[in-house]
Amino acid sequence: MVSDKISATQAIELEHKYGAHNYHPLPVVLNRGEGVYVWDVEGKRYYDFLSAYSAVNQGHCHPKIINALKEQADKLTLTSRAFYNDILGKYEQYVTSYFGYDKVLPMNSGAEAVETAIKLCRKYAYEVKGIDKNKAEIIVCKNNFHGRTTTIISFSNDPEARENFGPYTSGFIKIEYDNLKALEETLNSSNNIAGFLVEPIQGEAGVYVPSDGYLAKAKELCEKHNVLFMADEVQTGIARTGKLLAVQYEDVVPDILILGKALSGGVYPVSAVLANDAIMDVIKPGQHGSTFGGNPLAAAVAIASLEVIKDEKLAENAYKLGNLFRSEIQKLVDSSEFLKQVRGKGLLNAIVINDSEDSSTAWDICLKLRDNGLLAKPTHGNIIRFAPPLVMNEEQLLDCVAIIKKTFNEFEN
Ligand SMILES: Cc1ncc(COP(=O)(O)O)c(C=O)c1O
Repeated sequence: MVSDKISATQAIELEHKYGAHNYHPLPVVLNRGEGVYVWDVEGKRYYDFLSAYSAVNQGHCHPKIINALKEQADKLTLTSRAFYNDILGKYEQYVTSYFGYDKVLPMNSGAEAVETAIKLCRKYAYEVKGIDKNKAEIIVCKNNFHGRTTTIISFSNDPEARENFGPYTSGFIKIEYDNLKALEETLNSSNNIAGFLVEPIQGEAGVYVPSDGYLAKAKELCEKHNVLFMADEVQTGIARTGKLLAVQYEDVVPDILILGKALSGGVYPVSAVLANDAIMDVIKPGQHGSTFGGNPLAAAVAIASLEVIKDEKLAENAYKLGNLFRSEIQKLVDSSEFLKQVRGKGLLNAIVINDSEDSSTAWDICLKLRDNGLLAKPTHGNIIRFAPPLVMNEEQLLDCVAIIKKTFNEFEN
């Protein structure tokens, strides 16, 4: 049944009839991917400019990662953490030295990793910092996106994400993103602040890049107040923004680092929380976990995925191609009334259209981009994110820029 060939229309109808309607996909049905390309069921090839929300940084079906998956799948896939396995420790050693932390707590999805960081931060606040029981507060930013669990949506300000999912989890204070004064005032306002949770670039909000120096200064303020700085690098991390981590642009070392997505090259759900012993050691057996977290398949896939990032110098490539992308698109913005801005870092970029947030313009443009062989998705009615796999080369990028220019021109005229 799974291997039976079906048409695009049939595939869409099946999802519509039998799947919950919690997504609104662009009408294109994919069945193959390789590197920067994906193919639809009719065999048409597209450049993928979403990369599964920055999970496929290493490119679709990277042979090294797929081999690691296959080899491990033939040996051992899951033992649960009730027993030891012979690869988890190796992965833990590899990932901690890769990112420069004492310990890792392995999970599966990005949201789970964020939840883990929140729990870790609270426990540290009570047991080490000495905040009164149940009084800990975590500062978060407006327009954040950290996932979809009940606690995480409790501190979202996106009505779609929140409405009718209450009652909400308390213990979060929301401040303006990229506003150091707001952070300082909030840190000064209470002795119960346990942590500051921040995205180094707000991806889902529309690729908002904060002012230079914001992250470094925010970290400094957190240190001054003995508050844990937690960086959610689920989307920005692992070479996406032109550095291994986006915080490295400002030499910031987060107290708690949250990773997901490209940790597996999009092959398998793997996420992680990294911290030093002083923080991580507050978690004792039985206090946190997950059946699949740290399973042998995940460990093998994650090691291979991280090796690919270094071997193929993907951060350097993202840095170089990101500059090229923005300078090319800037020319288009400069010559068009229709476009407002291109912004981003590395290969995490967005084009802002001169239209209202609730218009359908970005969606309509994405349909035309699809027709012209490039897949991207709006983050808002007037913002399109452009995030291709980092294995792209210069010639391919310029080909994509030509498609984008042609599409915008077609749309404008
Ligand atoms: C910054 C950030 N944090 C967390 C998440 C949640 O990750 P997941 O969808 O794997 O739960 C996302 C997903 O887009 C994200 O962009």
